[in-house]
Amino acid sequence: MVKSKKYVLVKRSVGVPKPTDFKLEEEELPPIEENEFLAEAVFLSVDPYMRASMPNLSLGITMIGSQVAKIIESKNPKYPVGKYIVGQFGWRTHTITKLDSDPLTKIPLVILPDLGDLPASLGLGILGRPGNSAYFGFLELCDPKNGETVVVSGAAGAVGSHVGQIAKIKGCKVIGIAGSNEKGKWLLEELGFDYFINYKTENVEEELKKAALEGVDCYFDNVGGEISTIVMNQMKTYGRVSVCGSISGYNATEIPKISAPQYAIVSKQLRLEGFLVKRWADRWMEGIEQNLAWIKQGKIKYNEKVTEGFENMFDAFVDMLNGGNTGKAVVRA
Ligand SMILES: NC(=O)c1ccc[n+]([C@@H]2O[C@H](COP(=O)([O-])OP(=O)(O)OC[C@H]3O[C@@H](n4cnc5c(N)ncnc54)[C@H](OP(=O)(O)O)[C@@H]3O)[C@@H](O)[C@H]2O)c1
Repeated sequence: MVKSKKYVLVKRSVGVPKPTDFKLEEEELPPIEENEFLAEAVFLSVDPYMRASMPNLSLGITMIGSQVAKIIESKNPKYPVGKYIVGQFGWRTHTITKLDSDPLTKIPLVILPDLGDLPASLGLGILGRPGNSAYFGFLELCDPKNGETVVVSGAAGAVGSHVGQIAKIKGCKVIGIAGSNEKGKWLLEELGFDYFINYKTENVEEELKKAALEGVDCYFDNVGGEISTIVMNQMKTYGRVSVCGSISGYNATEIPKISAPQYAIVSKQLRLEGFLVKRWADRWMEGIEQNLAWIKQGKIKYNEKVTEGFENMFDAFVDMLNGGNTGKAVVRA
């Protein structure tokens, strides 16, 4: 009999999540049935959307999330023992399933291809949800052109660091906004960003004027709030904004008193579009294959903040919300 550990959501967080919002429980799993397989978590993801989704989650459920898992028992020939898969199984160590996709998001269960020397954890980053958010959310909604100026907020995170590198592949000038000079050094020296603005220590409005003398063509928005208002006020006519997330407000206990930059949107005739990456569930493998090809060609680099131990899921989650990660935050089970 296999026992699974799992984190149950017992309280919807108010402000920064607290350890008491979750309860670590054990569950005995039944024997697998025809067409089912049993997978053991190897890496688990901690992502901002988990915090953003909390107000809408039912109490008592296993906390949501994706994981890279190894198939350790199978009665389904499509999912043989030994394969590594990426599934939306939540914060749990063992899972029995027979589903080919997540019922809620329709995101397919992915059998990881042979990654050679690359870590399987990339299935949670560049080769997973964040990677596809960058690939589809930037290319489809911003439609960047050679020579254009692109601003990325949340630039040193999983999605943002990837978007900036895709923008470089497309021949754009890239300005990244993030929360520490160490992150800025990585963006400039390792990833090839052209400019970096530290939103915690610099005047974003003034620095952006210097970095984008003629204005901004594309803005990939990971953070919302004041930073996004400043960027949109400095966009060119017909600029495009891909609204991916608004992490600046996820832990907020009051509605922020920042008004949307309506005048800039109208007068510059901006095009803004929000997205949920599940929109491209039917093209999921296209993003993964392109992102893997770019890694193998040396065009996309990555960094991971790896926290050791399933029992440290909560700490890794809050650390990521607080900006402790450069690149993708993952937990090794
Ligand atoms: N629409 C979709 O389908 C979709 C899919 C994936 C992700 N997302 C969104 O994309 C954004 C980035 O996600 P990710 O997975 O790549 O996470 P991430 O950027 O790797 O991690 C979160 C980062 O947010 C930054 N941050 C925290 N508080 C902030 C604040 N008040 N203002 C500005 N930045 C803040 C921190 O970096 P600093 O040190 O720079 O503060 C932190 O490292 C999130 O908003 C997320 O919800 C959306």
